[in-house]
Amino acid sequence: TRIFVPGDMAARSLGADAVAEAIAAEIGPDIRLTRNGTRGMIFLEPLVEMERDGIRHAYGPVEPHEVASLLADPESHPKALGPVDEIDWMRLQTRLTFARCGVIDPLDFAEYEAHGGLKGLRNALASGRQAILDEVTASGLRGRGGAGFPTGIKWTTVARAEAPWKYIVANADEGDSGTFADRIVMEGDPFTLIEGMAIAGLATGATQGYVYLRSEYPDAIRVMEAAVAIARENGVLGPDILGSGEAFDMEIRVGAGAYVCGEETSLLNSLEGKRGVVRAKPPLPALEGFMGRPTVVNNVVSLATVPCILAEGGKTYAAHGIGKSLGTIPLQIAGNVRFGGLFEIAFGMTLGEIVDKIGGGTASGRPVRAVQVGGPLGAYFPRALFDTPFGYEDFSSKSGLIGHAGIVVFDDSVDMGEMARFAMEFCAIESCGKCTPCRIGAVRGVETIDRIRAGDAAAKELLTDLCDTMTAGSLCALGGFTPYPVMSALRHFPEDFQPASQREAAE
Ligand code: NAI
Ligand code: SF4
Repeated sequence: TRIFVPGDMAARSLGADAVAEAIAAEIGPDIRLTRNGTRGMIFLEPLVEMERDGIRHAYGPVEPHEVASLLADPESHPKALGPVDEIDWMRLQTRLTFARCGVIDPLDFAEYEAHGGLKGLRNALASGRQAILDEVTASGLRGRGGAGFPTGIKWTTVARAEAPWKYIVANADEGDSGTFADRIVMEGDPFTLIEGMAIAGLATGATQGYVYLRSEYPDAIRVMEAAVAIARENGVLGPDILGSGEAFDMEIRVGAGAYVCGEETSLLNSLEGKRGVVRAKPPLPALEGFMGRPTVVNNVVSLATVPCILAEGGKTYAAHGIGKSLGTIPLQIAGNVRFGGLFEIAFGMTLGEIVDKIGGGTASGRPVRAVQVGGPLGAYFPRALFDTPFGYEDFSSKSGLIGHAGIVVFDDSVDMGEMARFAMEFCAIESCGKCTPCRIGAVRGVETIDRIRAGDAAAKELLTDLCDTMTAGSLCALGGFTPYPVMSALRHFPEDFQPASQREAAE
């Protein structure tokens, strides 16, 4: 018999360690307690699972004082939720990238393999470089970090580049507000990322990889470091991957806490030991990246999706989704929401279904007023746009972006003028300072919003002008995308930009 209690950071911050300790104190040697990753149902954490007759039954959220009664009478305990796979949240998903997450012991290599791990890498080794590139291209996979650039094209650029060394860099500097997909995969199924990076190495001719992991994720750092050592012992990394003669190895590098280091060129500077400022593109990192060599920089989720594409075929993956948004996307639902967590689905579900049906509306019980999609640089969507299907082009046609698929919900008590001001303030604080529209524009942006809110209506035109300049003239997405939250707030919620006295009178 096995009992599972997540060792995931979100579950731990909700008390999972105390629950696991209480269970360990009660059980005998015939029961194995496993610290798994999270299933993504953060609203049910700490979520305990008990295996009975091969079926995993869920209980949650469990408190330490409930452990004794749970172990004594698991079948009719008030916290019983039934078989975990039959809970609506699990049943309604298409879990491809996160298929093993929460299921296995994250550092049990044998269990990883027993649940389909290494199938993709073995297929990749058997089929050769061009076939790997063809599968990834056929899958339609696009960069899940936010920009949505086709992964097959990026890999092909690196594969074709002539150089003595090439590199694979996993961008694990997950800085967007309300996002946690990279963290969940690294803590819950780390070998998948390692396998994806090894496949990327085979496809492009790169022999060295780095995971650039943010310092705010100590658990992910610990799990990834342990997983790299185990993968090396098992021949997945090293000079002779699984006996093929192909070499690929990797290291974990810890960031120092700057949002802009999630931007690929400042990430590369930081990785080289330099200050994390943005480099001008071109040259593209695909041609001149880490140490000036051709480098694949991909988000964790993109790389962690590659093993399942190679295992089941690019066409199978591309059968999910809509238009040019193919496959699945791990939504991260957060903010003022009843059911928050990670929900992997095929592209195409509308924003309204996601917020109302999956997220269950607000936690406060008040009406949803706005949803910010795509992190702090994403647009605010009002209810009028809730019919927008979740897809790259669908969101950009409504002046928004899906970004890294973080969805932050706000109720009707939100002050959207304040949120627009915060976007400019965030940009001013996090700006790397390399270009003027961002470094100075963001500071002027805060002042201009203050002027509008003090009653200077003419300053609205100035703000629009400033946003146009930032969009057109910034070197990277930080300055270039800050206008999304600002202008969407101004466009959809103009009443919140009125002076406080007028707003109070209107209420
Ligand atoms: P980008 O559009 O400049 O580039 C996308 C990727 O494609 C880059 O890796 C670029 O090097 C590559 N690329 C472009 N043309 C290529 C070619 N011909 N051959 C090979 N590779 C090529 O976008 P950028 O600045 O990399 O990312 C912006 C996005 O980052 C935004 O959409 C935003 O949503 C997202 N973002 C994500 C955050 C997170 O925490 N995950 C934080 C902040 C922003
Ligand atoms: Fe740096 Fe901002 Fe310019 Fe990006 S837009 S390069 S963060 S100053």
